[in-house]
Amino acid sequence: MFVRTLFLGILVGSMVVTGNWEIAKGAVEQETEVKMPPGAEVGFSPEVVAGYIHAVIAADRALYTTHVVERMQENRIVIAAEAWKQRKALPLPAQMLLMGGRLVEMGGSGLRYRLASLWPIYEENGPSTEFEEAGLKAVEENPDQVYSGVITRGDQRFFKAIYADRAVSKACVDCHNGHLLSSKRDRKLGDVMGGIIISFPLNSEKKETP
Ligand code: HEC
Repeated sequence: MFVRTLFLGILVGSMVVTGNWEIAKGAVEQETEVKMPPGAEVGFSPEVVAGYIHAVIAADRALYTTHVVERMQENRIVIAAEAWKQRKALPLPAQMLLMGGRLVEMGGSGLRYRLASLWPIYEENGPSTEFEEAGLKAVEENPDQVYSGVITRGDQRFFKAIYADRAVSKACVDCHNGHLLSSKRDRKLGDVMGGIIISFPLNSEKKETP
């Protein structure tokens, strides 16, 4: 037991030092396949599914911000700028997230996600339904609670969840307060700036999401 713990410690330690998380593949974990009867469904609550999706979006954004944007800027290699195409710069993390959401939407799975705010830089990032407006207000008041519910559009049902998006660094505050088109300029560190809105169909054969 001690040897195994020690080995694990060394492995994880070396992964942290080398940044080589690849080693984790198959090296430590043990898993056994459970045979399921054909067509058997493993039930998941939509809350859990939304939580998984949110975790991936948040991790990608955090890593892109630290390991690409900030590192490239610190090393004076390339900056991130809103007009990234014209300036041969990197897209801002918010732009990456929004582009990712549009690409996912084009994939036709019915999954959608975007970044929104009650005081957006661009109007298109404002709430587009009453549910979204209520949700963005709710996460602003209660950032630790996910606002979610089932909505319909036509005869389709969707699960929609809104997660608070906080000003985790001074950069968020400075850029948003200083942006020419900003509709709110008194943001402070830690404020809820908006939310990540995720939606997907509950009847999976249908494609469109509102
Ligand atoms: C260098 C400037 C800059 C920084 C830094 C920045 N943003 Fe933004 N943010 C933008 C721009 C520009 C948009 C609009 C992007 C678009 O719609 O194409 C945006 C969009 C958003 C939106 C959607 C609503 C809106 O205002 O349009 C939220 C929410 C948001 N950012 C939160 C954050 C958070 C939280 C941080 C810090 C972790 C952050 N931003 C850092 C520039 C910035």
